[in-house]
Amino acid sequence: MFHKQEVFSVDQETKTCVLSKNPDAPLVKKVFEVLQLTEADLKDDFHSVYTLGKLPMKRLVFVDEKNFLKGKTTEQLFKLKEDILVLVDTFSKEKVSQLFEVLTTASYRFSKFKSKDEEHIENIHYTTTEKVDDRIHEGIVYGEAINHTKQLVNTPYNYLNAFKLADYAQTLGDLEGVEVKVYGKAECEAMNMGAFLGVNKGSKDEPQLIHVRYQGNKNEEDITALIGKGVMFDTGGYSLKTPTGMPSMKCDMAGAATVLGAIEIIARQKYPKNVDVVIAATDNRIGDDAIVPDDILTAANGTTIEIVSTDAEGRLTLADALWFAQKEGASKLIDVATLTGAVVGALGKEYTGAFTNNQAFLDNVLSISQNTEEKIWQLPICEGYHNDLKSFSADIKNSGGSRLAGASVAAAFLEKFVENDRPWIHLDVAGTAFDSKIGGTGIMVKTLARIFKA
Ligand code: BES
Ligand code: MN
Ligand code: ZN
Repeated sequence: MFHKQEVFSVDQETKTCVLSKNPDAPLVKKVFEVLQLTEADLKDDFHSVYTLGKLPMKRLVFVDEKNFLKGKTTEQLFKLKEDILVLVDTFSKEKVSQLFEVLTTASYRFSKFKSKDEEHIENIHYTTTEKVDDRIHEGIVYGEAINHTKQLVNTPYNYLNAFKLADYAQTLGDLEGVEVKVYGKAECEAMNMGAFLGVNKGSKDEPQLIHVRYQGNKNEEDITALIGKGVMFDTGGYSLKTPTGMPSMKCDMAGAATVLGAIEIIARQKYPKNVDVVIAATDNRIGDDAIVPDDILTAANGTTIEIVSTDAEGRLTLADALWFAQKEGASKLIDVATLTGAVVGALGKEYTGAFTNNQAFLDNVLSISQNTEEKIWQLPICEGYHNDLKSFSADIKNSGGSRLAGASVAAAFLEKFVENDRPWIHLDVAGTAFDSKIGGTGIMVKTLARIFKA
C-alpha cells in the first residue's frame, strides 16, 4: 500500500498531495510562494486547494498536523478515494511514526463481508528527504497490528470461534522470538481448569487455551503476562441476555484481540522484554450441558465458585487464565477484558476503567497512556467489594448479585486469583473496545505495546 518516491516526481496517477500547514517547513513555504498563499488562507483543519497547473499535482490537501494525527480529519482524506502523495517532510520529524500509524489505521475497512467493496484509496505514495525509515516502519507496524485487532473484534462468531482464534495466534509464531502453544479441552481438564471449562459446557465448540510467549531478553527472568478475555460470543448462558443486550457480543473477545495486537508489535519491534499472552477462549451459551445458576465450579487453583449468574462468565475464564500465567512464571500481570456493563455505566465510551493492587505499576501505565492518548480512569477495589463475593455454599460466588459497583466487584473477583501480591492491573474495556457503528477500536494495543519499549 505504501510506496516511497522522490520529491515532486509525481507520476500521472497521483493527483492529490497531502501536507501539513506548518509554514516553517521549507516545502510548505515553497508551495505557499508558488500558489501565493499564506497560512491565514487555510483556516480549516482540512483544506483542499487546486494548483491550476502551477505545480505538477492537481490538488493539495493541507491538514492541521495535530488534528490529523489524532485521526480527526483522516476520514475526510480517505473519502477522496484516490491515490495520494504524502509530503512527510512537512510534518514534525518526531511525529512521523504517528503519521504512518494514522495513515495505516485510517485506511482500515471491514469489507470482508460486503459483496461490493466501496471505492477507496489503494496506494499511498510518500516522499521524504530525511532519514526516518525506522519511524515510518514503526508507525506502519503499530497501524497494522491495531488493524488486526479491529479485524478480529469485528469478525462474527460464525467465522471466528475459539479454534479460529487459536489458528490466528499460531501465525504469530513466525515472528522471531515468539513461541505459541495451544491447549485443547482434554489438556485444560488435566490442568483442572474447572472455571474456564464450566463456561464452555454449553458450547458445541471446544475451548482453547492460547499461550503466546515472546522472549526479547533471555538474560532477564522477569515476564509480564498480558491476559485477554476471549469470550468469542456471550449469550449470557442460562442467565440469558435480552434481545437488545445480546447484539454486539461478538466483541467479548476484544481483550484477547488487544493483547494479540500488542504482542505482535512487541515482537516485530523486538522490544527487549519477556512477554506472555494468555487467552482462555470459548463462547458462552446455553445447551444440554451448560452450567446453571447455583452450580459450583472448582477453579484450577482449588477455589470453589458458586454461580450466581452464568452471564458473569468472563471472570471465570480469567480466573484460570490468571492461574496459568502465574504457573508459567509471570511476575507481573495485566488483564484486558470487556468485563462489565457497569463500567460502561460509569465511564461510557470515553475512558477505559483501570484497577490495580499496585499503584506504582498502574501509575507507570497511566503516564504511558497520556502519551498514546488512550484515556484510562482508575476505579477502586476495597474489602467491601470483596465481601460482596462471600458465598453461603462455596468459597466465593461469581457475582455480588446487586447492581452496585459492578465493575469494582468484578475486579475484586479477579484479584482473588492474583497470588502473593504480584503487581496486577485490570483494564475493563467494555465501553471502549467496540462501538456498533464504528466496530472494533483497537484501544489499548498501543499503550500495552509501549510499556515494553526500551
Ligand atoms: N460481556 C459482558 C460485559 C459487557 C457489557 C461487554 C457490555 C461489552 C458491553 C459480561 O460478560 C457480562 O455479561 N457482565 C455482566 C455481569 C453481571 C452478570 C454480574 C454485566 O455487566 O451485566
Ligand atoms: Mn456475560
Ligand atoms: Zn462477557
